[in-house]
Formats: sequence, C-alpha cells, structure tokens
Amino acid sequence: MSESTSRTAIAQIVDTMRALAGSHPGFRPVHAKAVVCHGNFRATPQARSVSRAPHLQGEAIPTVIRFSNASGNPDAHDGVPDARAMAVKFQLPDGKNADILALSIEGFLARTPEEFLAFLQAQLPDPATKQPRPDAVPRFLEKHPATAAFIQRLTQKPVPASYGQCSYHGEHAFKFTAADGTSRFGRYHWMPEAGEALLSPDDAIKRSANFLREDLESRLRNGPVGFRLLLQLADESDPTDDVTVLWPADRPKVELGRLEVTDISPTGMADERRMVFDPTNLTDGIGLSADPILLARSEAYSISYDRRSKGE
Ligand code: HEM
Repeated sequence: MSESTSRTAIAQIVDTMRALAGSHPGFRPVHAKAVVCHGNFRATPQARSVSRAPHLQGEAIPTVIRFSNASGNPDAHDGVPDARAMAVKFQLPDGKNADILALSIEGFLARTPEEFLAFLQAQLPDPATKQPRPDAVPRFLEKHPATAAFIQRLTQKPVPASYGQCSYHGEHAFKFTAADGTSRFGRYHWMPEAGEALLSPDDAIKRSANFLREDLESRLRNGPVGFRLLLQLADESDPTDDVTVLWPADRPKVELGRLEVTDISPTGMADERRMVFDPTNLTDGIGLSADPILLARSEAYSISYDRRSKGE
C-alpha cells in the first residue's frame, strides 16, 4: 500500500471515531472523559541495565497522568463497560518529554489501521438507509478472531472499581537500548499497588456517573496512589509487530520503576485541550517497533489535536 493510501485510512479512522461519538466540540473523539493528575516517577536500579533513557536512570521525574474512559462521549456514565486508560507524560531533565499510553485491556483489536477502520465502520449505520446494522459487528468478529478475543477480554474486565485499582498495558513492543548498546524488545505493564478491583456492569451503573473521579479524589486525600512499571521482555519467537498477539505470561518481567500519583490538576480541562499524549513521543534509549498500528498513531493524534484546537 502506498503511503498516501495509508494516510487516508488514518484520517478516515478519526472521522469514523467522531461519527460514532457524536458532536462534542473541543473534546477527543475517543478517550473524551478524563481526570488529569500530577505525580512522580522513580526508576529502579535495574532499569538502567535495560535502557539509557533519561527517566530510567533513577532520578525523580515529574509526570502528568491522564486517566480516561475509551468512549468519545465526555458525558458517559463511568459505569458503562469499556476500556479505561492511563497516559503518562514524563518531564525529562532536558526539558523534553516522553509518553507511555496504556489501556486496561491487554493487546489491541486490530493488527493494521485498515482492519481497525473496517471494525469502526461496521458500527456505523447503513449509509443508504441510515438504519443501524445489528449484524455487521458479529459478522466482522466471525472473520477476525483476534478482534473477537479482545472483546472477550473486555467482557471479563468490564469496569474497574477505581482508576487506581486497574492494571494498564502499553500494548506495543518498543526497542530498549542500554548504555552499552545492547538492545531488546519489551512491552510495558502498569500494576496498581492497591491491587486490581472490578465491578459488575449492574453494580457499576448504580454508582454516581462520575464515580471514578470521586474515588480518585477521595484516595488522594489519604495519600498517593502507586503503580509499578514492569517491562515484559520478548523472546526471539515473540512477534514485535503484531499488537493483537499477547506474549506468554511467563516471559521475564523487569521492574522499571514506581509512579506515585499525588494530586488532581486544578487546571485539568485546560491541560487536556493543550496536551497531546503520543506513544511515538520517545527519547534516546527507547525506539519504535515495526508494528503498523504503532506507526499509524502519531498521525491520528495530530489530526485529532488539530481538530480539537479548532473547536471542531
Ligand atoms: C490505528 C490505531 C489507533 C488510532 C487511529 C487511535 C486514535 C486515537 C485518537 C484520535 C485519540 C485522541 C487523541 C487526541 O485527540 O489527543 C486517541 C487517544 C488515545 N488512544 Fe488511541 N488510537 C489507536 C490505537 C490505540 C492503541 C493501540 C492504544 C493502546 C495503548 C491507544 C490508546 C489511546 C489512549 C490511552 C488515548 C488517550 C490519550 C490521552 O489521554 O490523551 N490507542 N487514540
């Protein structure tokens, strides 16, 4: 496929996300409802043996964290089953920054941007009749077992009881290079120190519409909310360019560091509009893999930021 065809698919994904979410000017077309927090990250001594990245050398690193619900509806009830997310921006000593974006469900539902677009389009009404097509998604899932497996994992983890009691997965493989030049691929996992806690959809929907924010506010009044950052290391046989394939759970994991979420940003709404979290915003010592979904994302996020900034 030519570069220009692929770019069109990415713009179409953003269009389709917006069509599915409805009109919410100034908001993201997905992950619209969020809580922006501040925190601190400190790497473990073993992190520097994996990567020479400046935030993995052991200094305290200020961070901005954006917890969100995957839906594009900023008014959606927090109890609606869906993926949840944690985007972290590390503010590096040289004034630059580096991001990790992670979802509550492991893996992803499409192997390529074209497949992701087809899945989103299956959720749109029939273009001719404007009527919903209840068979379209089940038909897509029959032909795409990896998408069906992702949806199955989502149904097993429909609603976290707290943003602070949820694990989040960076999904893609990234290439980590240490000071001595050795490189290896790994995938990020954030593990909550308070342990995981889930709600059934029936219980979750009975809570207040913003219970995830209220829960975080109340936890933070009693002290920081902690996460461990683990890196799952790839075996030579593990695919590093297919985000739909989970690596075996017994692959070794290196503990890279600890994040303390300390407080909710008082300027959260303004922060959200001006900030972009982008998984390809990296730093020396951390590189991209050849995963086509990873490589598509930066363009999507910048199209989305552009539209949000124009109040579209
Ligand atoms: C081709 C695949 C994908 C496309 C086109 C896409 C598109 C988008 C768009 C347009 C946004 C809104 C960005 C903004 O306005 O700032 C977004 C947000 C987000 N996406 Fe994706 N996405 C893709 C795959 C993924 C994957 C694999 C993950 C897994 C980690 C992910 C996690 C997130 C998160 C966490 C956010 C919220 C970021 C924030 O808090 O600002 N996305 N995505």
